[in-house]
Amino acid sequence: MHGLFAVSDDMSVRRLSIWFAAICCTLIAAGGCGDSPVLRGPVVGRNGMVVSGHPLASEIGVEILKRGGNAVDAAVAVGFALAVVYPEAGNIGGGGFMLIRKPDGSSFCVDFREVAPRASTSGMYIGREGESVDGPLGAGVPGTVDGFLTALREFGTTRLSDLIQPSIDLAFGGFVIDSSLASYLVEYGQTLSRYPSTKKIFFGGNEPKRAGELLVQEDLGYTLERIRDGGREGFYAGVTASRIVSTMDGSGLIDTTDLASYRSVIRPTLKGTYRGYEIVLPGLPSSGGICLLKAFQLLQPYNLHGEGYHSEKAVHLMAESMKRAFSMRAAWLGDPEFADIPVDRLLAPDEGVAGDFSMNEDVAVPSDSLAGYPGRFREGNETTHYSVIDRDGMAVAVTYTINDLFGSKVVVDGAGFFLNDEMDDFVTVPGSANMYGLVGGEENMVEPGKRPLSSMTPTILVKGGNPVLILGARGGSKIISAVFQTIVNLVDFGMAPAEAISGPRFHHQWKPDTLQFEKGALTPAVIAGLTARGHHLQEIATPIGKIEAIFIDPQSGWYIGVPDPREGGVPVGF
Ligand code: DON
Repeated sequence: MHGLFAVSDDMSVRRLSIWFAAICCTLIAAGGCGDSPVLRGPVVGRNGMVVSGHPLASEIGVEILKRGGNAVDAAVAVGFALAVVYPEAGNIGGGGFMLIRKPDGSSFCVDFREVAPRASTSGMYIGREGESVDGPLGAGVPGTVDGFLTALREFGTTRLSDLIQPSIDLAFGGFVIDSSLASYLVEYGQTLSRYPSTKKIFFGGNEPKRAGELLVQEDLGYTLERIRDGGREGFYAGVTASRIVSTMDGSGLIDTTDLASYRSVIRPTLKGTYRGYEIVLPGLPSSGGICLLKAFQLLQPYNLHGEGYHSEKAVHLMAESMKRAFSMRAAWLGDPEFADIPVDRLLAPDEGVAGDFSMNEDVAVPSDSLAGYPGRFREGNETTHYSVIDRDGMAVAVTYTINDLFGSKVVVDGAGFFLNDEMDDFVTVPGSANMYGLVGGEENMVEPGKRPLSSMTPTILVKGGNPVLILGARGGSKIISAVFQTIVNLVDFGMAPAEAISGPRFHHQWKPDTLQFEKGALTPAVIAGLTARGHHLQEIATPIGKIEAIFIDPQSGWYIGVPDPREGGVPVGF
């Protein structure tokens, strides 16, 4: 079953070409990478690897590694670069998580999740539902810049000015808009054009800028220069801060005190095991780690490999474990600074005092009957992930976001970057679902200074003390399913990394009580069998998460950057 990790060097070489062929076939079968202009497959390197959502950002990261920077240096450089060349999701106006595993095995999570402004209240979106998504009221206090500077100070080796300069040059010099960004600008054009500060950068007259045009972002270039020269103060004080505050325009809540008091937090990582692998994950306020460990714990007793890949029984068990993990998420999880969340009890193997998670091997238990956590309820698509490894094996997984594509759609006037709409990740209106269909309990209601619960799940899989896979995804709540199935595909089904990532996925998030699946994920017989077991199935056209991963071959030590064929991630290695 684990033959994948136990072959000779010759085998490794042969396997690499098989992976390459497999991913190419998958890409061609899938009709290419969506709007991405190029078919991209895995890339092999010995000394360093970056897999990110844009070629220019991956190249900037690898250049830092080549000059002797470590993986955190490269991750910071990639993060700033994506803020320029991938404005729909890369950001300095949002937040995220940077998971770091050092070569000595110690691991840390830099939590730079946004926080709710001081003036926010639990009922602030009642009657103003759309405003948690579009417009300045949806913005939490941005954490990205403080997160990157904190990571660099604690774990980096290179001067900020060297890491940020390539992004400054790209902002002033411009880069060519690709078909992916161009099509998103059209798709979101109507909302984007409502905000003059956004329109002035991304539109030519009344039309969104098109593929092939040069995008110059001078205001963003000056903001990056202020960060380069002033560090934290260049963003959270002075000109940038006052421009953020004036963009609130009477409706948003962020003020200068919110900005001055924002701090990212270095947290311990959450660790668990699954069939001999150690999994390193972020803890709260990311729900991804806890949900994944719960799902793996519930699956552990079953022989998925014996049941068969995407067999009726295997899908049933995986869906039921995810359903339970997501029911726990909704009932219990939120910012750990605001409530005493019993993570240990929730992850206790004896199912703890915190709830009954017992599996039913045969039938789908209706979601409503899993909601029995007394007193926990008050009522009865954009992120990007990138992975980095350096020559010493320091592994970094970063997922950061402004939430929706283009965040709140509002560019900070005169500072050139989008503000997030992360407030929508809170329970904004008790009992209603957020943009990902997620519901939650009181632990995730809006409170001043609180971090909204996240599904972002940067992950490092470790075997025998060494990292074997660095991964993460974009896709809102579907991030957790994408990471979960990639690991199950590798560990239980012995699949090669490219196959494990490209294989069609399914998703259950407890509510709605629906088992969604990508085209081709389930055969008609499996669909019929699952329906008979009580599952409510729905084929969906949108991808279930988009992974960017690096596989580290334990035998050869080679790094294999593996993008997801669902959207054009770009591996660059050396
Ligand atoms: O933190 C979260 O869970 C969401 N804000 C992530 C958003 C996301 O992945 C959108 N991408 N497609």
